[in-house]
Amino acid sequence: MQYETVDFGKGLTLPCIQLDLTGSTDTPARRELKAQIYHLVDTKGGLLIRNTGIKDTRPYGEFLASIEFSHHSYVGGTSPRTEMGSGVYTATELPPSVTLHSHQEMSYLDTIPDYVSFYCELPPNNGQKTNLFIDMRKFTANLPNELKSRYRGRRARLQRTLKSSEHGAFSQGEKSWQEALGTGDQQEAALIAQERGWELTWKDDDSLVILQEPARFFRTHLIHGELWCTQAMLINPVTYRRDAVRDGRLADVEKLDQVRAKVPDTINQMFLENGNSIPDTDVECWYDLMLEMETHFALEQGEVIILDNMLVAHGRGAFEGPREMFAALGNRDSGESTMGAN
Ligand SMILES: [Fe+2]
Repeated sequence: MQYETVDFGKGLTLPCIQLDLTGSTDTPARRELKAQIYHLVDTKGGLLIRNTGIKDTRPYGEFLASIEFSHHSYVGGTSPRTEMGSGVYTATELPPSVTLHSHQEMSYLDTIPDYVSFYCELPPNNGQKTNLFIDMRKFTANLPNELKSRYRGRRARLQRTLKSSEHGAFSQGEKSWQEALGTGDQQEAALIAQERGWELTWKDDDSLVILQEPARFFRTHLIHGELWCTQAMLINPVTYRRDAVRDGRLADVEKLDQVRAKVPDTINQMFLENGNSIPDTDVECWYDLMLEMETHFALEQGEVIILDNMLVAHGRGAFEGPREMFAALGNRDSGESTMGAN
C-alpha cells in the first residue's frame, strides 16, 4: 500500500493514507484493504486515514465493520463513555479541564483490546492539540533498567470504589458501579466479577469496592516483543496530584490531599499483588518520562486513526470549547487477543 509517513513529534511517526469512506463498504477492494491496514498497524504501530469525507459516526462504524474490526467489550472500563451503536463510543466524557495522560487502553485488566481507533467529528477550536500519543517501544526502551527489572513478571490490581447511581449526586466524569458493570443487578454483577476474577465488597451506602484481576506490567507483542503495558502508575494518587497541579485544578489538589490523609483506601489506584502500594518514587520516575515522551497532536475533522494498543499509547489533553471525538476498541481477526500470552 502506498502511504506517506506523518511525524507526530517526540519520535513517533505513523503511516498515513487518504481514503474516501463515504462510498459503498461492501467491495472486494475494501476487503483487500483490510489485510493491508492491519499489516501496517501491527508493524508500524498505527495508521492515520485522512480525507475520509465522513461527518458522523454511522459511516465510521460501517467502515470499521467493512474491515471486520472485531469489537472488544468495554465492560470493566474506567472512563465514562456513551455507546453510539455498532461498537462506537464517545472517546471520553471526562471534564475538559482534566488531562488524561497517554495509556494503553484497558491495561489495568489482564486482557486488553489489540486495537483502538478514533474518529474526529469536531476538532476543538484554535488548533488545540488534544490527542496525546506515546511510542511505547521507545518508552519501554527509555525506562530505567533497574525499574524494569523490579516489575518484570509482576502484576498489579486495580481497586476502585464506585458509588451507586441511585445514591447521591455524581461529580462529572465519575462512573457508578451500574455503569461500570453494565448491570444494576447485584447478583448479575457478582457473576460478571466471578468470571473475571474480581472481588466485590458492597458497602452500607450501596457503593461497591472492586478489586480487579492481577494485570501484567509487561506484555509480549506478537511482532515487537516485550513492552511496558500497564496503567499501574497512571491510576495512582501521585499522578492524580501532579496532573491536578499541572491542569491548575487547585480545588482537586486540596480535596485529594484531604482524602489521602483521612481515607487513602477510597482513592482508586492499582496495588501490587501483595497489597502494597507502588512506591511514590517509581510513579514519579514513570511520570517524568511519560511527560517527556508524550506528543500533542490535533486530529482534523473526519480523520480516523487506528492504533495498535500496545505499540502506541493515547490520551486526551485538557481543552476549552466544543470537541467531538469517538472511539472503538477491537481485536485481531480470530476474536482472541494474540498479545495475551506472556
Ligand atoms: Fe483510552
